[in-house]
Amino acid sequence: MAQTNRPVQRADDRVASHPSGDERFALLDKVLKRSWFEADQLIEILHAAQEIFGYLSEDVMLYVARALRLPLSRVFGVATFYHLFNLEEPGDHTFTVCTGTACFVKGADAIVDALQREHAIAAGGTTDDGRFSLKTARCLGACGLAPIGVLDGEVRGELSADAALTAVAGVLEVDEDPGEGSGEDAELAAAGTSGENA
Ligand code: FES
Repeated sequence: MAQTNRPVQRADDRVASHPSGDERFALLDKVLKRSWFEADQLIEILHAAQEIFGYLSEDVMLYVARALRLPLSRVFGVATFYHLFNLEEPGDHTFTVCTGTACFVKGADAIVDALQREHAIAAGGTTDDGRFSLKTARCLGACGLAPIGVLDGEVRGELSADAALTAVAGVLEVDEDPGEGSGEDAELAAAGTSGENA
């Protein structure tokens, strides 16, 4: 009869509240416990950690390494090897352009170029104001719609460079809407102030 010899006791030995008090680590602890702290679950655990935190900071990788009793270099090596892991905090909005073969032959590089130029960042980077990140990925599995991109989780197919620029400008503009009123207020206030001073 097949028996699992998983050491039930060890689960609680390996997780403790993170000193930061960040409650997301409690969620990560659950993932670690569910995976029985098995080192061969590392990719799944990192994937879950990225879902929880949005990216894999060094702190999170260190936490996982300690819990799995693996060297940090191993965790870091896996996280950097796979394209799907983000090691930097993403911007408020992220556009991932597929550069797989089908998308490439249909002009994915022109889309990447246009976005790089427009936002003055390299692929993989984030604008200085933290509002926009540009990423590339290999085949996102929708080759029939090539070239494709994913903007904030929404797939955009049969893209052109112009369509990509417009889409990104659109989401960035939406963020600015709430500020419009305050901008007007600020202008009025400034005008009022100068009027009072006049
Ligand atoms: S190559 Fe882009 S979706 Fe497959």
